[in-house]
Amino acid sequence: MTGTRIGCEQLRSKVMHAEDAASLIKTGSTVGMSGFTGSGYPKTVPLALAARIEAAHAAGDPFRLRVWTGASTGPELDGALAKADGIDFRLPYNSDPIAREKINRGAMNYFDMHLSQVAPMAWQGFLGPLDTAIVEISGIRPDGSLIPSSSVGNNKTWLDRADKIILELNRWQSPDLEGMHDIYYGTALPPNRVPIPLTRPDDRIGETAFRCDPERIVAIVETDAPDRNLPFTPPDGTARAIAGHLLEFLAHEVKKGRLPASLLPIQSGVGNIANAVLTGLIDSPFEDMTAFTEVIQDGMLDLLDAGKLRMASATAFSLSPEAAGRLNADMARYRNRMILRPQEISNHPELVRRLGCLAMNGLIEADIYGNVNSTHIMGSRIQNGIGGSGDFARNAYVSIFMTPSTAKGGNISAIVPQASHVDHISQDVQVLVTEQGLADLRGLSPKQRAAVIIDNCAHPDYQPALRDYFTRALKGSYGLQTPTLPSEALSWHQRYIDTSSMMM
Ligand code: COA
Repeated sequence: MTGTRIGCEQLRSKVMHAEDAASLIKTGSTVGMSGFTGSGYPKTVPLALAARIEAAHAAGDPFRLRVWTGASTGPELDGALAKADGIDFRLPYNSDPIAREKINRGAMNYFDMHLSQVAPMAWQGFLGPLDTAIVEISGIRPDGSLIPSSSVGNNKTWLDRADKIILELNRWQSPDLEGMHDIYYGTALPPNRVPIPLTRPDDRIGETAFRCDPERIVAIVETDAPDRNLPFTPPDGTARAIAGHLLEFLAHEVKKGRLPASLLPIQSGVGNIANAVLTGLIDSPFEDMTAFTEVIQDGMLDLLDAGKLRMASATAFSLSPEAAGRLNADMARYRNRMILRPQEISNHPELVRRLGCLAMNGLIEADIYGNVNSTHIMGSRIQNGIGGSGDFARNAYVSIFMTPSTAKGGNISAIVPQASHVDHISQDVQVLVTEQGLADLRGLSPKQRAAVIIDNCAHPDYQPALRDYFTRALKGSYGLQTPTLPSEALSWHQRYIDTSSMMM
């Protein structure tokens, strides 16, 4: 039924097969793709592009691309292109295992950046020219404006800046998505930047569709393919304990009058633990909550269904197949309680600070002073990327990080003498939570922070060694503001690399 979602007569002649659209992309070019945490990414053109790249490589042509996205995508995009060895450079956030392996082998350049900064940097010209945008949409209106899909990400910027545009019109996406989005066109570069007129998470400040120059649209490919996200792991005892400590903390803050009874807008990060905390909020006393966040996961949908969450603002969905089905079946109802915005707005430091978000993010490891590593295992191997955690952590009303106290069956302590890589400096980390307990670090000096983190958050198997290190650092450190023994500080990581365990 070609054309039924293409309301603009003039554009119908641009419909073609994915292979023909992929043939329009030249080797060495920079491609801006849609996609954010496994939703709204193009699904057939990247696959056709991967096949073309494989054929080119077989013929001795070293075809490779520079790929920009919103954040992580799906196996048909990052997975297929990485497998074909077709990505020379990638930004800004990846969670695909094939791409991860290539990055960690040194075979792919990866620029891991704050998600709010991608669009501004593209406009500032720091990232170079953008040749082609490949953007999934859910429809085209008669006036040629584009109805966004299940993520907004950087699409506005890609559509505005690319020399040519390839659209994937995906019929799997609900037509009732129309009206959910809020595309803000008021951004500008300094010295012409003005305040963003958003003072409540449910404010609408933009348009419900993307403006698009029809002359630059070179292809429209119609698809009917689902977003592909993995199911979340059901919350286990560890996740439930973390959620429990966090909910107790929030209730305490309400009791003390430091938070309103409906809390402040929630930001919840990616991953299983963040999702488990949202699930825990269902049984909390908090009502009429809001979310100003990056992604809407299963737990947030459950909170909306339970009537605990009034509305959620984000840039994308990050839903299990079951939850995505639930959302699609009832989109018209959810549409009134959700807003999807460009990621430069959903993650904007000005807005996060103004609204007073409660930022809750996962981590890889934290050190005894509360510096947080969100990205690099043993300091050098990337897991995913910083994502939006920095956008929110630095500007939040309360910045909370959470993790199980150990990883890899207890062989790794998530609390270490010194973080092997730092994404969030101690000043941006106000509360640390593990299943062992919660450390409220607000207003504490480094030495006070160390004592609380070791006592409340470290696993009992690692507490004696951490206390021993800290005690000796208090005696032998060069300075006593942040006591450190440089020759020993990273020895736990070296021990893991040598013996597969941090245990002494
Ligand atoms: N050392 C080694 N590996 C570790 C580790 C550590 N200290 N901590 C976690 N890991 C591994 C886990 O073992 C797991 O590995 P596996 O996939 O091989 O099983 C993997 O990292 C994911 O950890 P998991 O415990 O399942 O946590 P999660 O799903 O809650 O994700 C992060 C945790 C840190 C990876 C995730 O939150 C992330 O990518 N954060 C950065 C981006 C971000 O915060 N975005 C939100 C902004 S809005």
